[in-house]
Amino acid sequence: MLADKDRIFTNLYGIGDKSLAGARSRGAWDNTKALLELGRDKIIQEVKDSGLRGRGGAGFSTGLKWSFMPKTPDPLRPSYLVINADESEPGTCKDREIMRNDPHTLIEGALIASFAMGAHASYIYVRGEFIAERVALQKAIDEAYEARLIGKDNIHGYPFDLYVHHGAGAYICGEETALIESLEGKKGMPRLKPPFPANVGLYGCPTTVNNVESIAVTPTILRRGASWFAGIGKPNNTGTKLFSISGHVNKPCNVEEAMSIPFRELIDRHCGGVRGGSDNLLAVIPGGSSVRLVPADQILDCPMDFDSLVKLGSGLGTAAVIVMDKSTDIIRAIARISYFYKHESCGQCTPCREGTGWMWRVVTRMAEGRAHKREIDMLFDVSKQIEGHTICALGDAAAWPIQGLINHFRGEIEKRIDRYAANPHPDPVRVAA
Ligand code: NAI
Ligand code: SF4
Repeated sequence: MLADKDRIFTNLYGIGDKSLAGARSRGAWDNTKALLELGRDKIIQEVKDSGLRGRGGAGFSTGLKWSFMPKTPDPLRPSYLVINADESEPGTCKDREIMRNDPHTLIEGALIASFAMGAHASYIYVRGEFIAERVALQKAIDEAYEARLIGKDNIHGYPFDLYVHHGAGAYICGEETALIESLEGKKGMPRLKPPFPANVGLYGCPTTVNNVESIAVTPTILRRGASWFAGIGKPNNTGTKLFSISGHVNKPCNVEEAMSIPFRELIDRHCGGVRGGSDNLLAVIPGGSSVRLVPADQILDCPMDFDSLVKLGSGLGTAAVIVMDKSTDIIRAIARISYFYKHESCGQCTPCREGTGWMWRVVTRMAEGRAHKREIDMLFDVSKQIEGHTICALGDAAAWPIQGLINHFRGEIEKRIDRYAANPHPDPVRVAA
């Protein structure tokens, strides 16, 4: 369990003063100049040593990503930091709370990260639906400009401008290269990688795209030291982590906890347990809808971290923990998720464009029982043809929930098909928006 003294987001629930004065009273902007005086290399090394892995879902080493940026400035190819605040992964609402309630952690982190990567401008790409968050963030940025904490002529002696860009509500614009396209004023469609943004990013220039939480934790890491952060959690899965817990728990919430906290402890301590008790748990999607579900018997004692969840065939993703009790129609739930990916596919690659719609139609029929048992294997095979064969991770994200369903609930699908065969007039199951 995370001790109160180790919490980074001390105003996560917005109870304290959200203004600059309030942020300062909680330790933000405290001698930031001294942190910059550590120098670029030392800052990047500290972030590497802390073990911080990207909090947007992929878990790539943040310090390593920063180290890919050019070491010497090139006036023709300026470096950029782009902060991904397009938080759209179903179940995920942690970056929202940082922008609403603790925005100065993000702004100070943006200055430090930009300095470490030699960027003098940074863009925060905010999800279209986050209107109040954009307003709160802009207010905090204005305060930071006013106090000359950022800006061309700031008290830290490192010229730095920070811009907020409002998206238009497309899930795919959270994919880093689609986000870059959208920032450039184009339709948000992912680019092939490589080249990675560190080589060819915004306006063709070196760019690092980081998640809000990844950036917002860095000032505290530098203040308290890499070893403090690395001492929380487990090796390779370090630090504090924001979890968004929703679904069939008694008190859904966002909470900052130690990485690797066991699922049972996370839910019991912060959510008043599973609705009806842990015996009533059916399955959990532990990392936002883009990972495979995990059945109750495997998740209860599992440490909530990148490596432990990968061992279960799932992933920590965005740490959006979606809890489903035994009242859940699990086939219908996955069919609804399938609809989401079909709807959000940008359509530029065939396996995703055609496959997401096909999978949704088949799994919807399965939810109704109107399918043949042989189609279960066919559905699994098609999902495998999509996985790894698309330009961006949306194809994988659409395939994995289907695979999780078939891996763990094949019996349930078969029962549904048998029931329909015995009485081919069930209530229609409508799985769409
Ligand atoms: P990825 O694994 O392709 O990349 C992760 C990061 O590491 C990227 O910034 C990439 O540029 C960088 N990177 C990876 N290999 C590199 C190399 N060899 N050289 C330079 N840079 C390299 O994953 P991706 O597609 O960025 O993210 C997928 C994840 O996003 C999913 O796991 C999902 O959980 C999450 N996600 C989060 C959402 C949200 O709302 N926060 C929405 C949808 C998905
Ligand atoms: Fe677009 Fe889907 Fe291809 Fe991603 S995988 S580029 S969303 S069609």
